[in-house]
Amino acid sequence: MADQTPAPSGPSSGTPMVRMTGVNKHFGDLHVLRDIDLEVARGEVVVVLGPSGSGKSTLCRAINRLEPVDGGTVEIDGTPLPAEGRDLAKLRSDVGMVFQQFNLFAHMTILDNVTLAPTRVRGKSKSEAQERARTLLDRVGIGNQSDKYPAQLSGGQQQRVAIARALAMEPKVMLFDEPTSALDPEMVGEVVEVMSGLAKDGMTMVVVTHEMGFARRTAHRVVFMADGEIVEDTTPDSFFSRPATERARDFLGKILTH
Ligand SMILES: Nc1ncnc2c1ncn2[C@@H]1O[C@H](COP(=O)(O)OP(=O)(O)O)[C@@H](O)[C@H]1O
Ligand SMILES: [Mg+2]
Repeated sequence: MADQTPAPSGPSSGTPMVRMTGVNKHFGDLHVLRDIDLEVARGEVVVVLGPSGSGKSTLCRAINRLEPVDGGTVEIDGTPLPAEGRDLAKLRSDVGMVFQQFNLFAHMTILDNVTLAPTRVRGKSKSEAQERARTLLDRVGIGNQSDKYPAQLSGGQQQRVAIARALAMEPKVMLFDEPTSALDPEMVGEVVEVMSGLAKDGMTMVVVTHEMGFARRTAHRVVFMADGEIVEDTTPDSFFSRPATERARDFLGKILTH
């Protein structure tokens, strides 16, 4: 047997998994991303914080070109994202995305939601896709729900399905945009737990979240955005105990006393 020892988690050196260089984005007169330079190493977990409207969602969407950018480059695992076409679809499928809204197909079972893209886009056989989907549903703790429909599941369970669905494409990096913000408080923990497990297994992750516990415990780095700029990029410990900017201190004051 080959050596099955898992790779240690945590950032590794070499080609960054995500590299944004000089990325700019406008919505009309509004300059939403300003000269963004951001590298995320393989196996690294980066939490993105910042006030509402600071550009966090746009940053995530720029990483897989759900949002076209006006200038600069985005590379995934060393390959620049093409502007459009088949190559874009291929590279984009290397980037898994989980949103605040789960966006599951209501008329399809949980299992079918998870196998849809692997069979349609990756060309996997149905049986192969189903086997993998069952493994992933087990991993997120809902293996016994696979024949149900989304509306029969709680919000926390639906979000875990959305994570399994993204993982089914075998992405190189996972983006999470406020994955727990639409959940009832008692369901936040189960989703955070799944994300922490992924991080421990070495997944490269960019996570926009207000879960400061996750940021402190699990992130390797915190990126703080304000007005479309990255104004701090540091370790969780230094960000939370010694924020360098007035903007970050103000932000932390608001969320931590909330
Ligand atoms: N499609 C859009 N058209 C126009 N303005 C947008 C659009 N999407 C976002 N914006 C604006 O861009 C800014 C950044 O938005 P967003 O990236 O969603 O911020 P965040 O996720 O940090 O709250 C906000 O001022 C928002 O109103
Ligand atoms: Mg947002």
